[in-house]
Amino acid sequence: MKKIGIIGSGAVAQALGSGFIKHGYEVMLSSRDSSKLMVWKEKNGVKAHTGSFEDAAKFGKLVVLAVKGSAAADAIEEAGPQNLQWKTVIDTCNPIADAPPEDGVLKYFTAHDESLLERLQTQFPEIHFIKAFNSVGNAYIVDPPFAEKPTMFICGNNDAAKEQVKAILTEFGWDIADMGKAVAGRAIEPLCMLWCIPGMLKGEWNHAFRMMKA
Ligand SMILES: NC(=O)c1ccc[n+]([C@@H]2O[C@H](COP(=O)([O-])OP(=O)(O)OC[C@H]3O[C@@H](n4cnc5c(N)ncnc54)[C@H](OP(=O)(O)O)[C@@H]3O)[C@@H](O)[C@H]2O)c1
Repeated sequence: MKKIGIIGSGAVAQALGSGFIKHGYEVMLSSRDSSKLMVWKEKNGVKAHTGSFEDAAKFGKLVVLAVKGSAAADAIEEAGPQNLQWKTVIDTCNPIADAPPEDGVLKYFTAHDESLLERLQTQFPEIHFIKAFNSVGNAYIVDPPFAEKPTMFICGNNDAAKEQVKAILTEFGWDIADMGKAVAGRAIEPLCMLWCIPGMLKGEWNHAFRMMKA
């Protein structure tokens, strides 16, 4: 499990990629144009690799999907679903629409009674998708520097895959709230809308969620 393939080249891919390397993993980041990842590779040393989406899917014993939500299915197709068969894929993506936010509230291309995670799980039934890391900004995704541990909400259909993701979240300094099967993506994906509102309205992006229990 120490080899992580990351389908994506953006802020989340780079933050998670560097975080995995810091925690002792070997990582391949990927892009349709991997030359854009030269700087990341140089900064992150010998355990940092770059390649195509397909290369990353093949490389990872566990894979992270970190692409624009509307391109998630296309990115999996490009990576080759056969290269991800029965693998755990951490889905960090949010179904953000291209339409502009309304009073600081992002627009989604999914309805309330569906989620991007469920769409992906239905389209690619032989991949074990687990939703995680979608409800916090990339600056706080690994080793979040808060006085108390923030909570990462996760869900997914495969219990063994979920256990792998829980171990990573614990290593990365997160409290975990397991919200059950993929259908819970309907509740977890909108947390990104909530997380972004203080940023959109007041320029505040320095928070994370914590679940309190009596
Ligand atoms: N930014 C954050 O702080 C944050 C935090 C939590 C979750 N998220 C979610 O995590 C995901 C990644 O976010 P991000 O900000 O790192 O990056 P992003 O700008 O949302 O996405 C960039 C990635 O999407 C890929 N992409 C775009 N259009 C594509 C297409 N038509 N076909 C295939 N791939 C395409 C790009 O591939 P190329 O490299 O080939 O161009 C690139 O790897 C998003 O779904 C976002 O909602 C973001």
